Amino acid sequence: MSKVKVLFVCLGNICRSPLAEGIFRQRVMEQGLSGQFEMDSCGTAAYHIGKGPDIRSMENAEKNGVLYNHSARQFNVQDFYDFDIILPMDDSNFEDVISLRPAEAKARVVKMRHFDPIDQGSDVPDPYYGGEQGFQEVFEILDRSIDNLLEEVKN
Ligand code: 4NP
Repeated sequence: MSKVKVLFVCLGNICRSPLAEGIFRQRVMEQGLSGQFEMDSCGTAAYHIGKGPDIRSMENAEKNGVLYNHSARQFNVQDFYDFDIILPMDDSNFEDVISLRPAEAKARVVKMRHFDPIDQGSDVPDPYYGGEQGFQEVFEILDRSIDNLLEEVKN
């Protein structure tokens, strides 16, 4: 069976989407499913290409038991062919992704919080200009949404 390829997308690819990728990767490993999935993350903007994740995100994740790393890259049209499911974090990221979608592309584009068991309508808020509480909120949203996402893509 071919691997399911999952791409997480935010604006800068230093806060939300690399964390989402890291949580997803950790859950997949814990469940012994590493052979079944590939995952990556990227940003719609070019500001932070080549940079590692925001240290505040990584420190918060570590407190929550998740270790990860990533080098930021920008979303591009090839991603529609390289991934099966593309998960933008907010409406703005969603619009930016959809605006580049080729008519024949098959990848599913679904907002991350479609999988949130508590609130399916909202964005994953951008924590960049806020404090520690914002990073913890983002962690909790992603943690529960990714559990749900993984259940769905496993089936
Ligand atoms: P992210 O957060 O999209 O979750 O990676 C941001 C990172 C950087 C900026 C904005 C949001 N920025 O304006 O540089």
